[in-house]
Amino acid sequence: MAVLEIIKIGHPTLSLKAKPIENINQEIVELARNMVETMHQAPGIGLAAPQVNVSLRLITIDLSVGENKDELIVMVNPEIVEEEGEQVSEEGCLSVPGIYEKVLRPARITVRGYNLDGQELLVEAEDLLARVFCHEIDHLEGKLFIDRLSPLKRRLLKSRLKKEMEKEMEKGSVG
Ligand code: NI
Repeated sequence: MAVLEIIKIGHPTLSLKAKPIENINQEIVELARNMVETMHQAPGIGLAAPQVNVSLRLITIDLSVGENKDELIVMVNPEIVEEEGEQVSEEGCLSVPGIYEKVLRPARITVRGYNLDGQELLVEAEDLLARVFCHEIDHLEGKLFIDRLSPLKRRLLKSRLKKEMEKEMEKGSVG
């Protein structure tokens, strides 16, 4: 297993619509394992393949951040098939360092996708889990959580973001 580099806002891959996975081969299984490792090490509760510069529809989620194996979700080609209600809560993203903002999301969703064995998964999620699914599936559409904020709010964030990115550069985590 390997910890992969997480790309940051401004990288073109984060704006692409990711491609569906047609064949769950060894390469995909390995990518998923490395994404889990990367997510746990970050640490984060969710990661989408575009964040490690792979434009494919694969996400990993673990609200326990490695504490409980049963909470790990690896999903291929996830899609939201039902959504209900609303929730507003603060969100951040490993690709958008230092920024946390309130984002409107559905309160409950049903997500359909596949596990690494190619079996169909149907997950009903609410609260934080619903939020993380929505956030990661947005990544597959080339969308970041700040794209869901008002244009004014986004403009105000720009200078903060610039400072955060400079800090990241000093740390040497952005090439
Ligand atoms: Ni994110």
